[in-house]
Amino acid sequence: MTILVTGGAGFIGSHTCVELLQAGYKVIIVDNLCNSKEEAVRRIERITGKQVVFYRDNLLNEEAVERIFSENEIDAVIHFAGLKAVGESVQKPMEYYHNNLTGTLVLCEAMRRHGVKRFVFSSSATVYGIEAAPPLKEEMPAGSATNPYGWTKVMLEQILTDIHTADPDFSVVLLRYFNPIGAHESGLLGEDPDGIPTNLLPYISQVAIGRLDHLNIYGDDYETPDGTGIRDYIHVVDLARGHLKAVEKAMKDNGVFVYNLGTGKGYSVLEVLHAFEKACGRQLPYVIGPRRAGDLPVSFADASKAKRELGFEAKYGIEKMCEDSWNFIKKNPNGL
Ligand code: NAD
Ligand code: WQD
Repeated sequence: MTILVTGGAGFIGSHTCVELLQAGYKVIIVDNLCNSKEEAVRRIERITGKQVVFYRDNLLNEEAVERIFSENEIDAVIHFAGLKAVGESVQKPMEYYHNNLTGTLVLCEAMRRHGVKRFVFSSSATVYGIEAAPPLKEEMPAGSATNPYGWTKVMLEQILTDIHTADPDFSVVLLRYFNPIGAHESGLLGEDPDGIPTNLLPYISQVAIGRLDHLNIYGDDYETPDGTGIRDYIHVVDLARGHLKAVEKAMKDNGVFVYNLGTGKGYSVLEVLHAFEKACGRQLPYVIGPRRAGDLPVSFADASKAKRELGFEAKYGIEKMCEDSWNFIKKNPNGL
């Protein structure tokens, strides 16, 4: 079985490629490296001892995408490629809509031309919007967003559902990720953002390694036990394992299937910071600041549907997530 992994050099994609290769799948990656490095591909090969076919191409390039499908027998597609920075999407909405929506349409058109009908999509808990109360369940109304990035996920969930309606043999699994963190335990793969990180874990990691001074905690006046925001952090290797289950589902059954991928358990910013301090063996400086615009107080999954229908359950806790993040930054202080 051959899987095309778009965005396979990125954070979640690279870990998923490792799991796919270790499970015996052949893997083709297409990535334009706009937010990743080719070194990730080499490291996937180093971890698994297997080779990957790598295309450095932009999904917006129809000819390049057509060539990938002409040159390979592809059984299924896992689609990670997309721009994902919430704040940047507010500044550059056209770039986000064009890259994420057009890129997906170009991909789906090539799939249609080549009769490839198995699709797994990286969606996000952000589609639940600000109204839904956690634990968030798949059947809750989704379809609102607070920023262009989030809207691309809402719109793509709809577009993929419509493609299934027009062609019921087109099977799609929509995976709504919560907060992926952690790294491969080898220390060879992990999250490697450019510039100053906006997400919590990469920021804490850079404080721990001495690249940043202190963590700014965005508000301690939420209605949570310690006042800081609560999220459902999931180890990226668990998340990657979830994609194996999802792609198997897409190959076995026809339909549109929606699953949360989270642990079902929330941790506050301070709890995560303390878990990281334990992992790196020292106290980390922080400053309590104002809330960040658009942040929810609490977000965590009801993870029972993925367990029931896919047999997927996250196995790593916050300690392991922080240990592996620390191991990665220690071994790669300047990124990949
Ligand atoms: P990432 O930026 O590390 O990976 C995305 C990859 O896609 C990058 O390697 C980038 O170079 C590539 N890419 C982007 N546009 C492309 C294009 N037009 N053509 C070819 N390649 C392109 O991000 P990630 O954290 O691994 O996220 C993967 C997917 O999961 C994204 O769709 C993201 O929106 C989604 N997601 C991420 C999170 C998260 O917190 N990390 C949460 C929910 C959903
Ligand atoms: C986590 C918690 C912050 C940084 C974002 C996207 C979401 C999804 C995942 C893709 C919050 C607090 C953070 C910092 C802090 N991405 N924080 N200081 O906001 O839950 O989700 O990434 O789909 O769409 O919105 O993740 O890691 O930014 O924040 O105090 O320097 O950490 O307020 O409570 P978030 P995050």
